[in-house]
Amino acid sequence: MQLKVSDLSVFYGSAVALSNVNMDVHEGKITCVIGPNGAGKTTLLNTVAGVVKQREGRIVVSEIDVTPMSISERVKLGIVLCPERRRLFPGLSVEENVILGAYLRKNKDEIKKDLEYVYTLFPVLKERRKQQAGTLSGGEQQMAAIARSIMSRPNLLMLDEPSLGLSPLMRERIFNAIVELNRSRGTTILLVEQDASDALAVSEYAYVLEGGHIAVHGETEYISRNPEVRRAYLGL
Ligand SMILES: Nc1ncnc2c1ncn2[C@@H]1O[C@H](COP(=O)(O)OP(=O)(O)OP(=O)(O)O)[C@@H](O)[C@H]1O
Ligand SMILES: [Mg+2]
Repeated sequence: MQLKVSDLSVFYGSAVALSNVNMDVHEGKITCVIGPNGAGKTTLLNTVAGVVKQREGRIVVSEIDVTPMSISERVKLGIVLCPERRRLFPGLSVEENVILGAYLRKNKDEIKKDLEYVYTLFPVLKERRKQQAGTLSGGEQQMAAIARSIMSRPNLLMLDEPSLGLSPLMRERIFNAIVELNRSRGTTILLVEQDASDALAVSEYAYVLEGGHIAVHGETEYISRNPEVRRAYLGL
C-alpha cells in the first residue's frame, strides 16, 4: 500500500509537533523515519493511524483520502500501528494477546493460518503461547506486539521504535522478522527508529525528522554514505 502525506502539520495546543511534512512511502518497500527524541516521529505515526486528530494536511493511501477517517476505518483498510513500548495485556496469555490483532476479521481459517505464519516468524512465541504476556522478556514482548499487528493483516505496517531497549541479538531477530515479512508478503513498512544504523540497514528510503520537520531524505544508500548527512543528522 502506498502512503502519501502532504503538508501535514500537527499542533498540541499552541506547540507545533510537525510542520509541513511531506512524505511518500512506496508500495512494498521498507521506509524509515529517524530522528532524535521529541522530533515528532511518534506524532507522525499516530497521525497516519488516526490517533492524533488535530492536524492540517492530507493523508492518502493508495489513492484513498483517509484524512477524515476514524482509527478503525483505517485499520479495516490495513493501516496498522504497532505502538511504542508494546502495550500488551500482561494478564492474558501470549496467544490471546496475539489473536487480539484479528479482532476485526471474521474468517477463522485465515486467522488460524496467520497465527501459524507469525509463529514461523517468531518460533519462541509458539513455545510460550500459553505463558502470561507480562512474564515475557522485553524482546519477546516486542515480538508479540509485532505478531499481534500482523494478525490485523496490515497493508501498511507502522512500527514505532521496535528495537527500543533491546539487546543486539534481540534487535537482530526483530529486524530479520521485519525484513522477512516485507519479502514474503510484500507488506509495506514504515519504520520509526532513534537508532539510525539498524533502520538504515533494512530500509530502502529514509526520512530524517528534526524538530517537527523533514531535515533531509533520500535513498538509504545516499543517506548512509553522505559524510555531511551522517555528521549533521545521524551523529555517526
Ligand atoms: N499529547 C501531547 N501533548 C502535548 N505535547 C505532546 C504530546 N505528544 C507529544 N508532544 C510533544 O510533541 C513533540 C514530539 O513528540 P513525539 O512523541 O512525536 O516525538 P518522538 O520523535 O516520537 O520522540 P521519542 O524519540 O522520544 O519517542 C515533543 O515535543 C512532545 O513533547
Ligand atoms: Mg516516539
